[in-house]
Amino acid sequence: MTEVDIKKGLAGVVVDVTAISKVNPETNSLLYRGYPVQELAATQPFEAVAHLLWTGNLPTAAELAELRATERQHRALSPEVKAAIDILPTTAHPMDEVRTAVSVIGALDATGDVMDAAGTPEENQERAIRLWAQLPAIVAYGQRRRRGEELIAPRDDLDYSANFLWMTFGEEQHEIVVDAFNRSMTLYAEHSFNASTFTSRVIASTLSDLYSAVTGAIGALKGPLHGGANEAVLHIFDAIGSAENVTPWLDEALGAKRKIMGFGHRVYKRGDSRVPTMKAALDTLVTHYDRPEVAALYDALESEFVARKGIYPNLDYPSGPAYNLMGFDTLTFTPLFVAARVTGWTAHIMEQLASNALIRPLSEYVGPAERHIDGYVATD
Ligand code: ACO
Repeated sequence: MTEVDIKKGLAGVVVDVTAISKVNPETNSLLYRGYPVQELAATQPFEAVAHLLWTGNLPTAAELAELRATERQHRALSPEVKAAIDILPTTAHPMDEVRTAVSVIGALDATGDVMDAAGTPEENQERAIRLWAQLPAIVAYGQRRRRGEELIAPRDDLDYSANFLWMTFGEEQHEIVVDAFNRSMTLYAEHSFNASTFTSRVIASTLSDLYSAVTGAIGALKGPLHGGANEAVLHIFDAIGSAENVTPWLDEALGAKRKIMGFGHRVYKRGDSRVPTMKAALDTLVTHYDRPEVAALYDALESEFVARKGIYPNLDYPSGPAYNLMGFDTLTFTPLFVAARVTGWTAHIMEQLASNALIRPLSEYVGPAERHIDGYVATD
């Protein structure tokens, strides 16, 4: 057998170029189209970040107004998509619900001609905006129906983040909460060739349609090693209970060789560049809701785990408790990630199509050597 250098999990493999974002683990930085994500999160509405990811530039005032107008036009959940969601049991995982809704939107928008499935750049930009605009309604309705509550209509006088919270809770939220939510959307929007984005590019590379690529990406994001971790962080917080229980809980978890969700990253080995910004947003929420015990548990688990394992928190660690304080159900956390990341996914799908090559790696065969039927018949 020839010696082949297998890169398990494609670790360290550079598969293509991208102009959308740059992750630099050495300097602990993440740039969207050249801008540090911290600066974007602190200063820009999520609508402007979406425009940046799609087009390469921050919008002019006129472009932002136009994008906001289009987003508002497509916010309402269509009756067909609502009906498709209503068929699903409320026990279905919300990620399955979101994946199904996106798939239904795609089927309703299909041209019917598989040879045209990939669409033109203009068609894909419009599809991306419509899908992004409708996801808050899907996510918000999902949480509401699991609580036995009705769908809430969008509010045209509210921007993206304030409207998202309105559709979820039916109450206008304090500006501190809207700001923390807006920051989380920006931080979750894009992260180069992570598992779900790569999935979307693989699907796009076959010249399939944008909706199929996003549907596949949602499937990839669902897993607890990727987007599902923010949900898992809350389960850990619930299991530990309070700061003084951290040491015995960690003794038991590490003794059983369990992974601690919300820590570690394939690319960042010295800390996730997005964590300080999201932690600062979490701190504002802790003060706003007067919940110091949440910060105490957060700090105790982080400092003890980092001291024991030298593994740092990733974005899911502060975002889990932040979404919990805002009032989101734990099951809704990963769908929130979808609502944000759909901007990055669709930017990557369009970039893939702009200079496409079918993604088709090789594998090293390690099964049986060639053998023949030789009259073989199945017997007991
Ligand atoms: N808890 C305990 N040990 C860990 C953790 C963790 N969270 N993360 C890594 N390790 C340990 C592994 O057990 C392994 O130890 P070993 O060498 O003694 O076997 C070593 O560190 C390397 O870990 P790998 O999983 O091989 O490293 P990889 O680069 O593949 O890991 C990953 C990245 C999958 C994210 C991992 O850190 C993990 O599973 N974390 C928990 C899940 C999580 O938080 N995912 C969110 C990712 S970020 C995001 O999606 C926003």
